[in-house]
Amino acid sequence: MAKLLTVLGVLLVLHMATSTKLVCHMTNWAQYRPGAGKFTSDNIDPFLCTHIIYNLATINSFNQISPIEWNDEQQFVRLNGHKNANPALKTLLSVGGTLNGISPFITMVSTATSRAAFIKSAISYLRTHNFDGLNLAWEYPAHNGSPGTDKMRFTMLVKELVKAFEDDAKDTRKTQLLLSATVAGFIPTINAAYEVRDISAQLDFINVMTYDFHGHWEAATGHNSPLYRSSVDTGSHVHHNINSSIAHWIALGAPAEKLLLGVATYGRTYRLTTSANGLGAPSNGPADAGPYTRTAGFWSYYEVCEFISFATEHWIPEQEVPYSTAGSSWVGYDNLHSHSAKVEWLTDKNLGGAHVWTLDMDDFVGTFCAGGAYPLVNALRRTMGFPPKPTTTPAPTTTRDPVAEFCRGRPDGLYANEADKTTYFQCFQGNTYLHRCQPGLIYWDSCKCCNWP
Ligand SMILES: *[C@@H]1O[C@H](CO)[C@@H](O)[C@H](O)[C@H]1NC(C)=O
Repeated sequence: MAKLLTVLGVLLVLHMATSTKLVCHMTNWAQYRPGAGKFTSDNIDPFLCTHIIYNLATINSFNQISPIEWNDEQQFVRLNGHKNANPALKTLLSVGGTLNGISPFITMVSTATSRAAFIKSAISYLRTHNFDGLNLAWEYPAHNGSPGTDKMRFTMLVKELVKAFEDDAKDTRKTQLLLSATVAGFIPTINAAYEVRDISAQLDFINVMTYDFHGHWEAATGHNSPLYRSSVDTGSHVHHNINSSIAHWIALGAPAEKLLLGVATYGRTYRLTTSANGLGAPSNGPADAGPYTRTAGFWSYYEVCEFISFATEHWIPEQEVPYSTAGSSWVGYDNLHSHSAKVEWLTDKNLGGAHVWTLDMDDFVGTFCAGGAYPLVNALRRTMGFPPKPTTTPAPTTTRDPVAEFCRGRPDGLYANEADKTTYFQCFQGNTYLHRCQPGLIYWDSCKCCNWP
């Protein structure tokens, strides 16, 4: 009986891992961050996520999908090369953004001819660059210069894309391309932008942006991505939380299993104006920009790690998220604890999984937070019930492998590799994991991190 239960347990875990998605975003602007903040396709761990979305491509004046950065197509090769290591990994190209402040979707969706041109170009481009699908990241239909009719035109685009993807799969005998969308979390925006039932029936999965609920544009501190409303919320702010946003998507007809909860690897910052420094404290703008993301208003998780080494950390019990404050700076962010509360919540609601904004704002090398590489996303993986990743060292063969044996009998933790300072060992339950520092960096045991030589 005990054996049968074990087998059932294993089957349940396997089932969960195959039906649950952990979709991770990367951005092509993270390559311009200085020093240890620089992130490219080479920093991707092929076994971390089920899907990776490359942000961002655009739409040119011929209504064709087109790259933005000079090296996007080189990064596509490196990104999709990770599928050699993990053939189960899926990649999608995200299209969106603005040109001169205007979404390129507005012109493209306006006629059947221009939509057809886009769809044809997208299929050809995705196939050429070995992507598994397309992600629509229009912020938002019927907003920011887009007329109200774009709500309906967005639905038409989604339907026509899926039809064309079906035809392409038949013609090419390849696996059908996936279609997802990154969509609003704010209730008024959802109402104006989407025919929820119609688009949900067509899309493979839906990335709800359940973050940016509060930020420095408000006159008092509030959390970026709270699970529930807080007692200081009044008026429409009572809906600025995950619980309200996802409930609204479901009420409008989105199947829970297609909804992915947006989880943040960043926090939003404020400049306090009085000695009050709790939730709802008066503020007038953002704290200083982070040294790596260099944009006032938010800090990556690894920048938050540097801040909390001298700041005071607090937990907001009613919202299940942390904030930290020091001097006049205040940041509401996510950590392992809040992510685990969110995983419990999304599991309870039978959502399809999570999408992470972004890989490049987690401590992707393990330089800053003393939690190994990708501390947030690795913890998400574990709490979501995915099986352990394959070890990065080969299995011991008949001849004793000193690297694979390194952790035998050692406590869990990080260790220097005396034979190669550009790598280091992570010991976990007696198993040895060999990690590599980012190019140019070496491992320092004094900080248990990679840093300049
Ligand atoms: C979560 O949302 C549901 C549905 O809108 C609501 O009934 C419930 O009270 C909310 N929970 C909390 C703790 O706010």
